[in-house]
Amino acid sequence: MTESLWSLDEVTARLVADVPVIAGGLLAHTSEIDDPRRRWAERALEHVRVLCDGDPARLEAAMESFAITSLDFLRLQARFLKTGRYACGSADDLVGLYADSEQMVEYLDGLALSYAMWPNHAVTMAFFAQEFVDSLGPDPRVMEIGPGHGLFASLLFERRPGAFYRAIDISASSLLYTERSLRALGLPEDRYELVESDITAAPRQLPAAQFDVVVCSEVLEHVDEPELILGAIRTALAPSGTAFLTTVANMEAIDHVYLFEDVAEIRSLIENCGLSIVDERASVLAGAQEQERLPVNYSAIVER
Ligand SMILES: C[S@@+](CC[C@H](N)C(=O)[O-])C[C@H]1O[C@@H](n2cnc3c(N)ncnc32)[C@H](O)[C@@H]1O
Repeated sequence: MTESLWSLDEVTARLVADVPVIAGGLLAHTSEIDDPRRRWAERALEHVRVLCDGDPARLEAAMESFAITSLDFLRLQARFLKTGRYACGSADDLVGLYADSEQMVEYLDGLALSYAMWPNHAVTMAFFAQEFVDSLGPDPRVMEIGPGHGLFASLLFERRPGAFYRAIDISASSLLYTERSLRALGLPEDRYELVESDITAAPRQLPAAQFDVVVCSEVLEHVDEPELILGAIRTALAPSGTAFLTTVANMEAIDHVYLFEDVAEIRSLIENCGLSIVDERASVLAGAQEQERLPVNYSAIVER
């Protein structure tokens, strides 16, 4: 493997050659060279390089995991378009996945690389870094729910090195991955703590009004009652606090449980939980503009 394989174009070219069926969904394959989203895709790839610790075999494994994630998505999305329902009926069905460290590593490797590969994920990163993190004070107290690969923490600490960060995740395997990611980033251990907890089961045990910032990306659709997460976020935020949320509507994955039918439903759930939307992005899946049930990646900056 040559050094150039580590560039966005080379990783994309390898995926296009090896798994042509996913090519139409890849940012670097479908956009102009000066597309501003590429900057964020490059940044996400940089994070994957850090996670791989310069080991070409690990990048190969991440590419394979991303290909599996993409193929799973195509298969499940086709099924969803026929049935109008997600295959996974309840968060209880995800216990096995969360406990399986090998599967979680594969899953999170693939998800991390998706931020370098999928156009909508590049939009989310730009929104998070430029509109959200750049507006924060100097040393925010941050709670992230479901951090997984640690990309959001990486962007946060890059821009706010004085942050204090608490990660909460239901999966010990996922938290171990997050911990490795934070170590690989070289963060001092006294800047962060990791808590294994189901955020929907213990919202009342959360310390109230302790965080300036909450980040909760791609978790709402993984639980039976996303309003419990939104309530926990409201509880955890200080009165002047702000949160960054992302979720999806009409987009299937192996672990998606809660089906948001459109952006209006996401907005009203957020607002019904006592949070106000300050800014938002909604990106329709490329090529799906004509579909009746629009697959959308949604992100919002919200306040108490
Ligand atoms: C799809 S990953 C999201 C990773 C990353 N935040 C992102 O946006 O790409 C979902 C993460 O949420 C965690 N999670 C799912 N349900 C949870 C719950 N009830 N409480 C805490 N964490 C949960 C999973 O273990 C996993 O790490």
